[in-house]
Amino acid sequence: MVRKTMPELVQERLCTTRFGKQIFFSRAVSSTNRWARQLAESGAEEGTVTVAETQTAGRGRLGREWISPQGGLWFSIILRPRKSATEVAKLAFVASLAVTKVLRRKYGLCAETKWPNDVTVNGRKICGSLGETNSSAKKSDFTVLGIGINANVQVSMYFSQLIGPIVTSIQDELGRKIALDKLFRAVLEELEKFYDLFITEGFDPVLTQWKKYAGFLGKQIAVQDGTEKICGLAFDVDTDGALILKLENATLRRVVVGDVSLQ
Ligand code: BTN
Repeated sequence: MVRKTMPELVQERLCTTRFGKQIFFSRAVSSTNRWARQLAESGAEEGTVTVAETQTAGRGRLGREWISPQGGLWFSIILRPRKSATEVAKLAFVASLAVTKVLRRKYGLCAETKWPNDVTVNGRKICGSLGETNSSAKKSDFTVLGIGINANVQVSMYFSQLIGPIVTSIQDELGRKIALDKLFRAVLEELEKFYDLFITEGFDPVLTQWKKYAGFLGKQIAVQDGTEKICGLAFDVDTDGALILKLENATLRRVVVGDVSLQ
């Protein structure tokens, strides 16, 4: 009997209208975002996905490396949202909300959303997303949304002593491996649901749900914004997706880029 590939297993019972109808799979690529961008430039349809077992040059936010060993779920999806660049940036919230819901519902993990694009479990990062838009056009022609989930990854094997303590995986949390195709299918379904909500009703209903899982809100945090470190109470996330900090002197400070750590 011929063994089915991971995309075939995913597509067998996939309940989406567009997401994952076309899946390009590779054992190893430099970056699934890069691959998806090439496909988008040649006209691939919305919902087309690239997925790889490993990435040799996985990309993270702010030009960082994204460690992508075998066992993780590393994929990118082509979107054509016909929205401004400011709106498109909010897709990070759509991604983290979708993954959070799946991790909670399917695996019982206490997953939380963390500004701007992370999913955490027990305070450690389990998932990140990276949206890349073609910058030439005013109204973006396409966006590639890349999502990395540390699924069947033993963190201590791949992450340095510096990063290891702030990272986790589904395997480390559950003490067992999970079926990647089932995780992938569930994420594609949830992602399409929240993406459609975002397209039809805008950011507000997505943000409302995202905040329900945002455990960092109301806590003392530090935000690293380039060379500046700002400390304060995580007061809110506004309708533009910016983080609102309440500083020690009770003034509010709006932050648009940065990394949050709990104090
Ligand atoms: C971050 O939190 O820094 C964003 C991480 C995004 C990683 C994913 S893995 C699949 C896709 N391909 C990439 O090169 N990056 C994204």
